[in-house]
Amino acid sequence: MTRTAHTAFPAGCEAHRGALLHFLDDPGNDPEPAAGSLAHFGDGLLVLLNGQVLAAGPAEDLLPQLSDGTPVTHWQGGLILPGFIDTHVHMPQLGVMASYGTQLLDWLETYTFPHEARFSDGDWARAEAQRFTDLLLAHGTTSGLVFCTSHPASVDALFEAAESRGMGLTGGKVMMDRHAPDNLTDTTQGSYDDSLALLQKWHGKGRQRYAITPRFAATSTPEQLTLAGRLAADHPDVLVQTHWAENTGEIQWISELFPERHSYLDVYDHHGLLGDHTILAHGIHIDARDRQRLAETGTRIAFCPTSNTFLGSGLFDFRSARETGVSVGLASDVGGGTSLSMLATMAEAYKVCRLRGQTLTPWQAFYLATLGNARVLHQSDQTGSFRPGRHADFVVLDQNASPALNMKQAYTHTLAETLFNLMILGDDRAIAATAVAGEVRYRRFGDTIATTQSPASPIQGA
Ligand code: GUN
Ligand code: ZN
Repeated sequence: MTRTAHTAFPAGCEAHRGALLHFLDDPGNDPEPAAGSLAHFGDGLLVLLNGQVLAAGPAEDLLPQLSDGTPVTHWQGGLILPGFIDTHVHMPQLGVMASYGTQLLDWLETYTFPHEARFSDGDWARAEAQRFTDLLLAHGTTSGLVFCTSHPASVDALFEAAESRGMGLTGGKVMMDRHAPDNLTDTTQGSYDDSLALLQKWHGKGRQRYAITPRFAATSTPEQLTLAGRLAADHPDVLVQTHWAENTGEIQWISELFPERHSYLDVYDHHGLLGDHTILAHGIHIDARDRQRLAETGTRIAFCPTSNTFLGSGLFDFRSARETGVSVGLASDVGGGTSLSMLATMAEAYKVCRLRGQTLTPWQAFYLATLGNARVLHQSDQTGSFRPGRHADFVVLDQNASPALNMKQAYTHTLAETLFNLMILGDDRAIAATAVAGEVRYRRFGDTIATTQSPASPIQGA
C-alpha cells in the first residue's frame, strides 16, 4: 500500500507525540477508575489543526495518517495531558502569597487590601496581569476562573494578557462597596455599571468570558448583592464567583451583618446568586442543609486546599460534597493559596482528605484538574480533554523532573503510581512545556525532552 492511501489528516496539521492521558468522564474516587472514564496511550499522538484537536490516539495508528511533511514534536519521556484549569485564583494576589501569621479577616486587612489597592495604577495592573498569565503557563495552567480587583482596568489588563497568549480565561471586577479601605471600595450603582460595561466588552470576545464577582457578603451591602443578582438573572450564561463559609470568624460576622437570613448560604440564595453558573470558593464550615441546597441549585464549590491549610481556615469535606451530588472543582486560591501549581494543589487536597479520614485517588485528582474543572466552569465543550474540536491546550509533564521524582520513578510500575508521584512530589519543575491552542507558550529552561521533525514520511521518523 502506498503512503498516500493512508493519509487521512489534511495538510496544515501538526502533531505532538508522547504518553497521552485524558479523561472522558468522572473516574470516581475508587482505586480503579470507572470503565471508559479515561484514555491512555503509552505512545500516543495528538493531532492538531488550527489550534484545535483533530485526534488523539496511539501513535502507530495515527502517524501513517499524517500528510507528508507534517511536523511531529516528540516529547520523549513526557506525559501529555489537557492543560490544567484553576477554578478560583486571584490575579492581583501574587505578591500576597506567603504573608505571615494571620487568618482570613486579618490577612485581608493587613496584606491583601493594601496590595490590591496598588491596582489603581493601570501600568502596575498590566504588568502584574502579564506576570500572572506567564506564571499560570509556567505551572501548566491554561485556563481558569479569576478574581481581578475592584478597578475596571485590572479586568482589561487580565483579558488583554490572556488574549495576547491565546488563553481563554474567565474573570471579573470585584464588587465591594463596604468594609474595605476607601481606595478599594466601589459604589453600589457604580459597581453594577462597571460590571455590566466590562461584561459587554469582554464576555464572548474570542475565548474570554466575564464573571460577576461580588467579593463576599461582608464587603457588599444588600443593595449591591441585589444588583449582582440582577446582573446574573439578566445574563444566565455568565458565571458568578464569590467566597463562602471559609472561616469561623467570617461566618460569625456574616450572621451579624445579615441577622434576617438563616445561614450564610441563604444570604446568597436570597439575592439570586445561587445556581449552576455560580462557583463558591471554600465552603468548609457548612452543614447537610447547605449541601442539599447546593445540590438542588447546581451551585458549585471551588475546593482550595493550600489556602485552607495556610490560613488555618479548616478542612473541606470532599466526601460529603460528592455523596450529596455537589459539584466540586479544585483551585489554588493564590494568594491565600501557596502555589499556582495544580500538582501542589492536588497534593494538599490529598492531605486534607487524609486528615478527614478520606482519600483522593490520583485518577480523581487529575480528573478534577482537567475535565472536572472544565465541567465546573461550563467549558468542557472547549477544554479539559482531547476530544476532537477542543482547543489544543495541553501540558507536558516530566515524570523525572526533580531528584525526588527521578528516584521514586525507579520504583514505579503503573500509571496510577506515576500520577501519584507527580501530584505528591511534583511542582512547576515537572512542567516541561505548556501549549495554548496548539502554540507552545512555555518551555522549561534548558528543556531537552522535545525534538521536532518534519519527516517527508512521518512514519519513518517515528
Ligand atoms: N474572602 C474574601 N476575600 C477573600 C480573598 O481574597 N481570599 C480568600 N481566600 N478569601 C476571601
Ligand atoms: Zn479567593
